[in-house]
Amino acid sequence: MCESNNSVEAAMHVAPLELSDNRRQQQIEAALCELQFTMETVKKIGRVFESELEKGIHEEPSSLQMENTYIPELPDGTEKGKFLALDLGGTNFRVILLELDDGKVTDEKVKHYHLDDELKVGCGDRLFGFLAECISDFVKEQNLTGARLPLGFTFSFPMIQKALDVGILVTWTKTFNCPSVVGKDAVQMLKDAIHRRGDTHVEVLAVLNDTTGTLVQGAVLDNRTAIGLILGTGSNACYLERADRVQHWEGQRHGEKQVIIDIEWGAFGDNGVLDFIKTDYDREVDKNSLLATSFTFEKYISGKYLGEIVRVILVRLTANGLLFDGIASKKLLSQNSFPTSYVSQIEQDTVDGGNKNTEDILDKFNLQYTTEDIAVVKYVCEVVSNRSALLVSICLSRLLIRMDRPDTTIAVDGSLFKHHPRLKTWMNKYIQLLAPGKKFRLLLAEDGSGKGAGIVAAIALRLKERFQET
Ligand code: BGC
Repeated sequence: MCESNNSVEAAMHVAPLELSDNRRQQQIEAALCELQFTMETVKKIGRVFESELEKGIHEEPSSLQMENTYIPELPDGTEKGKFLALDLGGTNFRVILLELDDGKVTDEKVKHYHLDDELKVGCGDRLFGFLAECISDFVKEQNLTGARLPLGFTFSFPMIQKALDVGILVTWTKTFNCPSVVGKDAVQMLKDAIHRRGDTHVEVLAVLNDTTGTLVQGAVLDNRTAIGLILGTGSNACYLERADRVQHWEGQRHGEKQVIIDIEWGAFGDNGVLDFIKTDYDREVDKNSLLATSFTFEKYISGKYLGEIVRVILVRLTANGLLFDGIASKKLLSQNSFPTSYVSQIEQDTVDGGNKNTEDILDKFNLQYTTEDIAVVKYVCEVVSNRSALLVSICLSRLLIRMDRPDTTIAVDGSLFKHHPRLKTWMNKYIQLLAPGKKFRLLLAEDGSGKGAGIVAAIALRLKERFQET
C-alpha cells in the first residue's frame, strides 16, 4: 500500500516491516501509511510552507508569524565584558553569567532553578516574581550585587517584538500556561519584578527566542551560520532575511541589510493549511494536549509529542488485535506515559540491530510481547521519527533555496536532535535530496539559549551605543 515507484520518494520511506504473518504486516503498514509521504505530498508541504512564509513576512494572515527580532548583525568578535542571560522555556530555568572577550565566551557560571508546575501554569506575576528572585539569588552568589549588568532574556515562546527589548507574548506553548501573561510584554513584566525587589542593578537589554540564541551562538562557532533550529521539547527555526523583504519594522531603520526572523514554525498549519497530512493519531494527541488546536507542526515533530504519537499508535494497533495479542496494559493506556526518550532508545536498537532497550521499555509497561511485537514497536518509532525528520527537512530545504547563499551552516540545538540516534543522518539526506546543489551543514550549537542570550545582550549594547551616537 505504501509502495513507491519514485526513487526519491522511496529514499524518504523507512524499510518495510517484515513479519511472518503477511496479513498482519499489511494491516500494520496500512495503519501507518499516511505517516509516510508521497513525493507529491512532500512537494505540497514545501509549497505551503513557502506560501505561508511569504504571507507572514508581508503581514498577511498566515500561520507563520515571521517575527522580526531586530537583531541585524551577528557577533563581530568585539564583544567583551560580563553579561547575564536568563533562559526560560526549555526543561529548566537557568541564570547564567558570561564573560566575553573577543566575541568568545571565556567564562561561564550557570545555576539551574526548579520551576514548580504551579509556577508554570499559574499567575504571571508569581512566575516573574520568581524569576527576579532567582536573578537576585544568583547575583548575590556571584558577588555582583552592586554591578550594572546587561541581561539577555531568552524567552522561548511566540512573541510580537516591537523592538529588541519588547516581546509581547502571543501564546504559551510546551508545558507553560499562565493566561494572565498573554498579550503582555515579558520584558516589562521582568523589569517590574526586578524593580519591585530593588536589590540588583540588572538592565534587560534584549529578549530573544532560543532559535535566535542558537543562530548567534552558531555564528561564533562558524561564520557561515545563517539558520538557527531547535528540535527539543518544542521546535522552531529562525534565519537571516534580507532587511528590505521585512515589512514589520517598528521604530527607525538604520540602514540594516539583514535581520534575524523568528519563523515560529511550531504554529505552522494552525489555520488548517497542513490538514492534508493530519492523521487520526495526530488528532488524538492534539485533543489531549495542554493547548489543543494550536501548534500543529510542533505536534508532528517535537520531543514533547513524538512519544505520545507512538503511544497512541501502539494503543490503536493493540485495540485492533495487531499487537501484544490485543492486550494493552494500564500504563500503555495512560496519556503521556511514553516519553520521547523511549523513542530515541528504541531507535538506538534499530541502529545497533539489537532489542535490549525495546525489551526494557516494554517491560516497564508490563506488556506481554513476542519478537514480532518488538519489530512492530521498532517500526512505529521509526516511522514517527522519520516523519519528523522529513517535515523539518522540507522546511529547511525551502529556507536554503530562498536564502540562496553559497554555503550555509544550520546551527541546531535541542534534546531531540541531541539524543535521537539518526535524525541528523536523515535530515542530511533529505535536505540534499530536496535542495539539490545547496551547500549546507548541520552544526550542533549547544546552549544557544544561554550563551546566545549573553552575546545578543552584547550586540544590543553595541547597537544602543551606536544609535545613541548617531
Ligand atoms: C516556541 C518557540 C521556541 C520553540 C523551541 C516553541 O514552542 O513557540 O518560540 O523557539 O518552542 O523551544
